[in-house]
Amino acid sequence: MSKTTLNIPHPYEDGLAESWISTHRDNLNSGKNITYAIVKKDTDELIGSISLMLNKTHKKAELGYWIGAPYWSQGYCTEASQSIIEFGFRELDLNRIYALAMVENAGSWRVMEKVKMKYEGIRRQNVIKDGVSIDLKSYGILREDFYRQHNR
Ligand SMILES: CC(C)(COP(=O)(O)OP(=O)(O)OC[C@H]1O[C@@H](n2cnc3c(N)ncnc32)[C@H](O)[C@@H]1OP(=O)(O)O)[C@@H](O)C(=O)NCCC(=O)NCCS
Repeated sequence: MSKTTLNIPHPYEDGLAESWISTHRDNLNSGKNITYAIVKKDTDELIGSISLMLNKTHKKAELGYWIGAPYWSQGYCTEASQSIIEFGFRELDLNRIYALAMVENAGSWRVMEKVKMKYEGIRRQNVIKDGVSIDLKSYGILREDFYRQHNR
């Protein structure tokens, strides 16, 4: 997972999950970031996480997510992304939601395509990972796109 993300340490030491989770309430209260757990409906088992990093000035948010490897390619991230996008437009009154993924991370940009985000191009050498500059594919959905897709 750390191969395709920027902020997940590897190795992932004991205690890191707890300290990450402990930041969520403050981030929510300060309006910086909303993070949800993704759980299986039938068992309540935690299988991943999804977040919106908010920029209130511009009424926009960056979508980010991960799913535990045993649960990949079963549609979970697509379902969670659809829900949080709907929440972002209907409840948070956002105007734009965007997401970025490494060019090689087809599983991630496929999710963006499946939730009808528009491809907005390559952000060339947008980040540096392990000393190497990396291109990111960029996708976005506007409030007007969302309501057009959902007939208001
Ligand atoms: C990216 C990630 C969140 C996707 O979660 P997921 O629950 O597997 O996603 P979904 O099942 O909803 O959809 C994945 C789609 O990508 C496709 N896919 C997965 N791996 C692929 C690959 N290597 N090449 C091409 N397509 C791929 C799946 O087949 C599926 O498409 P389909 O429904 O048309 O068949 C998950 O792989 C993950 O957590 N990766 C590690 C963390 C990460 O990269 N986070 C995103 C950072 S931008």
